[in-house]
Amino acid sequence: MRNPYLPYPVRIDDIKTETEDRSLKTFKFVFIDPADEDKFAYQAGQFAELSVTGKGEIPIGIASSPVEKGFVKFTVNRAGVVTTHLHNMRVGDVMGIRGPLGNSYPWKMLQGKNVLIVGGGFAFTTLRSSIVYMLDPANRKNYGNIDVVYGARTPGMLLYLDELAEWEKRNDINMHITVDGTKDPSWKYHVGFVPPVVEEFAPKGGPDSYAIICGPPVMIKFTLPVLEKLGYGHDNIIMSLENRMKCGIGMCGRCNIGKELVCKDGPVFTLSELNRTPKEY
Ligand SMILES: Cc1cc2nc3c(=O)[nH]c(=O)nc-3n(C[C@H](O)[C@H](O)[C@H](O)COP(=O)(O)OP(=O)(O)OC[C@H]3O[C@@H](n4cnc5c(N)ncnc54)[C@H](O)[C@@H]3O)c2cc1C
Ligand code: FES
Repeated sequence: MRNPYLPYPVRIDDIKTETEDRSLKTFKFVFIDPADEDKFAYQAGQFAELSVTGKGEIPIGIASSPVEKGFVKFTVNRAGVVTTHLHNMRVGDVMGIRGPLGNSYPWKMLQGKNVLIVGGGFAFTTLRSSIVYMLDPANRKNYGNIDVVYGARTPGMLLYLDELAEWEKRNDINMHITVDGTKDPSWKYHVGFVPPVVEEFAPKGGPDSYAIICGPPVMIKFTLPVLEKLGYGHDNIIMSLENRMKCGIGMCGRCNIGKELVCKDGPVFTLSELNRTPKEY
């Protein structure tokens, strides 16, 4: 059996600054041994541990999609020690990725269902992976209506602008992009927080409709009652948690909520599952 602590060596192939404040960059990695790419087979919603030699290891959601071959991508917010070192690295530098880790969004269960994606800020990364997966020509027929509500503080803080514009043009996905505020008179999408946009534009819930929600805690807090009002049951609301983690494989116990280990049993849980965990979360 492969040592689960052993990272795959990867080379930085491209770095894209995503936001106007330069706090978010997307790193495209290629595997130094091409055979490692097959071993790193992942599903949308999973994460990996990125390791920077001499600095440490951090959990980051996988932003690329399993249908995109030849590379793996992560979008990283400059938060502290490791992420700052990562932001200072250059194309050609070598580092490690360990994974894929955790569960994924429940793709088998979502087949034939309508999917509402609700994202806020830089938590949109694994939602991007999910949208690209569902829109892939081989997969699109497996899902019903796809609606996306995605919000950021300002237009310059939205991730993946080119793709948002492409999805906007398609007729098999409904995009509802919003910003908290803007001074740009040419801004043509919504202005306002995510929850009221969900309330006004998201489709009604029901047994065949699921909502996947990922974003800052305050956005989640105010969006959950709106989803309930729209008719999404607790089994049909799917969330991804970002607890503090160390090992990522269920060994150290640092990420637990009650008996659940977020790195292993999650990070994806339904609201019903979270309701059964201690209220500390
Ligand atoms: C499953 C999972 C997926 C994640 N996906 C992404 C992602 O796609 N992109 C991304 O930019 N970040 C993501 N994160 C958060 C990322 O792991 C932390 O920002 C990172 O560990 C900070 O490392 P650092 O050494 O740069 O910061 P540190 O020097 O360790 O800390 C900097 C600041 O970040 C806070 N912090 C550290 N770890 C976390 C954490 N896990 N959650 C909340 N706050 C934290 C600290 O309290 C401190 O204020 C994810 C976390 C988890 C658990
Ligand atoms: S991070 Fe070690 S048990 Fe979850």
